[in-house]
This record gives sequence, structure tokens and C-alpha cells, in this order.
Amino acid sequence: MKVEPLNRSFGAKVYDLSLPNLNEEEVRSIYDLWLEYALLIFPQQHLTNTQQIKFAKNFGALEFDLSPISNVRNDGSIRDANDDDIVKSLRGNMEWHHDSTYMPIQAKGAVFTAHKVPSKGGETGWADMRSAYEGLSQTMKDKIDNLSAYHSYEWSQKERFGHKDPTVSEFNSYGFDIDPKPLRPLVKTHAETGKKCLTIGRHINKIPGMTDQEAQNLARELEEYACSNQEWVYHHSWEVGDAVIWDNRCLMHQASMWDLSEGRIMYHSRIEGDPISEAASNYL
Ligand SMILES: [Fe+2]
Repeated sequence: MKVEPLNRSFGAKVYDLSLPNLNEEEVRSIYDLWLEYALLIFPQQHLTNTQQIKFAKNFGALEFDLSPISNVRNDGSIRDANDDDIVKSLRGNMEWHHDSTYMPIQAKGAVFTAHKVPSKGGETGWADMRSAYEGLSQTMKDKIDNLSAYHSYEWSQKERFGHKDPTVSEFNSYGFDIDPKPLRPLVKTHAETGKKCLTIGRHINKIPGMTDQEAQNLARELEEYACSNQEWVYHHSWEVGDAVIWDNRCLMHQASMWDLSEGRIMYHSRIEGDPISEAASNYL
């Protein structure tokens, strides 16, 4: 296989191998590369859904096997209405986040594949929370090292977009009903690399010891700082057939806007976090 690092603090493109036909040695090499680079991009793999699930399972048990991230209905028609709850969830994905910080156990990672891409836009961006932590001033490190935050998808989605009653909506309100909302340290040590990283993003709405406004301001300040340094951020322009895997413990991600009258079909497999390292502190 050929590994081509991105010109960033993280990430690599990997060529010259076939993801559906990996041998054990290749699986081990990819796992190690994944820990090192946190994001691996495999151009032109054209995985079927079954092949994607099998590949994802090399990285651990799955939180869920496969979910379409798409504005195309099963009958091929396009969802582009702003009051459509699926469109709202797609717009929510455009804000920086880690997956499943709003669940009792944060996700370990995700495999994402492109099946239909718009003519322009619709990139996925990732941001390196290891470098972001390292780059913080000592004053900010001292301020946040012992702080924890509550993460709520119910809050982030309703606050930003409003929401229909989930009992009458076709939107999959995965994680809305989690109670209590998970409490997570802002600074976490990665269970496999030992590196410290920020755990922040759009789902933070409360920090014990602060007003909600102070908490949300601090979360936005950290996010702006971490996601505006071009050394630590990469946006991938998708081509049909591309597959990626990212480490959700140390990267945040976001989708980019596209003309929603054009279809974009992606499939997402979510790798389950280890409860020993990824459980919220109020779920231990
Ligand atoms: Fe996500």
C-alpha cells in the first residue's frame, strides 16, 4: 500500500490496496496508521454496504452498522425544504462535533463512504483536537484542564433549528431522549495513543460552575480557535467510491453546505467506544 500524508497535522491518503480483500497483516497496518494519522482516506474503493460494515468491524464493535446520510428519499426524490427534519439534521451535521458525545458512550470512530456527490460543495471537514490542545496557552490549559461539559443533541438541534414533535416526525431523533445528559471532561487522554485532546463541539450546553451562557461562550471560543488553524483542519472533496475512517476520539468533523436541490448520498458506520475510556463521567 502507498501512504500519502496530507499536508496537515493529521490525515493520510492510502492507495494500492483493496478494502474488501484485506489480509490480517494489512488490517493491523491500517489500524496502526489510523492511530497515527487519525484520518485515513481510501480513494475509489466503491464499497458495497456489506463490505463497508465488514471493514468497519476491523476497528471494533459497531454502535450501528450503517446509516444513510442523505437528502435523497428512497423513491429518488430530493429533500430540500428547510422545515424537513432530515434537512435539519443534515444542517446540524455542518457544525463541528464529535459523534455520540451526547450518548452515554462516545463513539470510537466512523467509516464514511460516498455514493452520490453534488457537483459542488458537500465536503467533509475534520479538525485535529490533539494539536489544538497542544497549541493552547498555558493559561487556557489551566482554566479548562479540570472542567467538564454536558453534551446534548436534543439541545443542539432544537436550539439551532427548532424541531417537530419526534413522535410525529420521520426524523430519527437518535439520542434526544438520553437522560441525564452525559458529562465529559473538556480535556481527555486518548486511550490508545496517550495523547491529550480536546472534546468540544456543538453539543456542549452546560459546564458545572458556569452560567449556561458562559459555558456556551467558552465552548464556541475553543471551537473557533481549534477549527480556524489551517494546519489542523482538512476538508475532503468527495468523489463517488471514496471511503474514509476517522478517529472520533481526537478529531471533530463537519459537513459543508451544498445546493440541496442536488442529491448527496453517504453511508455512515459508527464504531462503538470502549466503555472504560469513552463513558461519560456520570455514567461510570
Ligand atoms: Fe457526525
